[in-house]
Amino acid sequence: MPSNRGRIEHGRMQKVQQILSEFQLRKEELLEVKRRIQQEMEKGLRLETHETASVKMLPTYVLSTPDGSEVGDFLAVDLGGTNFRVMLVKVGKDEKGSWKISTSNQMYSIPTDVMTGTAEMLFDYVAKCISNFLDQHNMKHKKLSLGFTFSFPVRHERIDKGILLNWTKGFKASGAEGNNVVGLLRDAIQRRGDFEMDVVAMVNDTVATMISCYYEDHSCEVGMIVGTGCNACYMEEMKNVELVEGEEGRMCVNTEWGGFGDTGELEEFRLEYDCIIDETSINPGYQLFEKIVGGKYMGELTRLVLLKLVNQNLLFNGEASEQLKTRGSFETRLLSQIESDTADQKQICNILNTLGVVPSQGDCEIVHLACKSVSTRAAHICAAGLAGVINRMWENKCKETMSITVGIDGSVYKLHPQFKHRFHMMVRELAPDCDITFLQSTEGSSLGAALISAVAGKLGS
Ligand code: GLC
Repeated sequence: MPSNRGRIEHGRMQKVQQILSEFQLRKEELLEVKRRIQQEMEKGLRLETHETASVKMLPTYVLSTPDGSEVGDFLAVDLGGTNFRVMLVKVGKDEKGSWKISTSNQMYSIPTDVMTGTAEMLFDYVAKCISNFLDQHNMKHKKLSLGFTFSFPVRHERIDKGILLNWTKGFKASGAEGNNVVGLLRDAIQRRGDFEMDVVAMVNDTVATMISCYYEDHSCEVGMIVGTGCNACYMEEMKNVELVEGEEGRMCVNTEWGGFGDTGELEEFRLEYDCIIDETSINPGYQLFEKIVGGKYMGELTRLVLLKLVNQNLLFNGEASEQLKTRGSFETRLLSQIESDTADQKQICNILNTLGVVPSQGDCEIVHLACKSVSTRAAHICAAGLAGVINRMWENKCKETMSITVGIDGSVYKLHPQFKHRFHMMVRELAPDCDITFLQSTEGSSLGAALISAVAGKLGS
């Protein structure tokens, strides 16, 4: 139990609040972030400015959303977070002719040495997991079409060909950057030689999320992930996608907005903690927006804030435990637990105990406030990003009133008890001219790849 050392005295609380107030972004500041992200999006789309844009706006070659006329079995594989997932998707029609999609799936964790070893090691591991999955489902004899969700920045040449620009989110397998990722997967499958697959499409997780939500709601034209990383895609007019020839119709663009800020656009908003996160990361100078919002970083950001409060003698009697001093010890899921509606002082205290600290009631309250500051800033800055995307779409439509659905997935969005609410409120405030529906996807990032494969398979035949 928290030792009862009474309420926090006024002076101490004031100092804590002053330190935490740096996390609050005023509406004008958020509107400025929205404006700048829109500016970078424009630069990313234009041929002459694309190279220097921090928001890469990568064409995906997903031209239209599937109309649901394809049936069959598809394998979806999903690589992009700490887990690798394989899913069997049966696309078929039910008695009434409406769509029926049944799935079974399996998660495999990716060992750190595989994430940061060689590309060959990583893709051999992927192929091994697929092989294991096929064994379990007695499907090794069948040559299935495979849809690959690969959640990193890829420059596509076609839907089934694209080179990895750079790793993000702690991945670093050597020999993959600059290479065709579908080729790496095909080679690994061939090296094994115990099953065959037809890799028909590779998509980003944002794209897969948009597609899977489109099945439920045909107004879904934006896909977004707030998980380990953070990113969004949306349907753009072809005439604006200068990297691809053709003027007609629309193409889905993977914004890769996680890189926003990499050319200085977030400088005045970044705090000392953000700089430490970046400097100690595997990719310093890159993904600065993502390092504010992504689940990979939010826990660590909070730990750094707590250490600052300890150093100022405002928390834990000025003493941090060894665990708390250890990088990575405060996981992002702890923010969710501490900020959950039902978390009382006892639970917060228990969590802190596991980190080797014996907190007072006041300490628990301050830790709660620190978590709230970090996660609210993330929700708000992420809202500014989405408001930028939606505003661009609204301008494309010549500012008619616009109703739009945003498909969303990701652990932070789904599991944090307050993130959604704060995020939705702020998006609506920053994009007041649009009627926005948020649709949380179930199985989005894998399922979408299978559905895209269904279309790609058909177009290719
Ligand atoms: C990172 C990746 C991006 C992905 C996002 C969410 O930002 O670069 O491709 O969509 O994480 O997983």
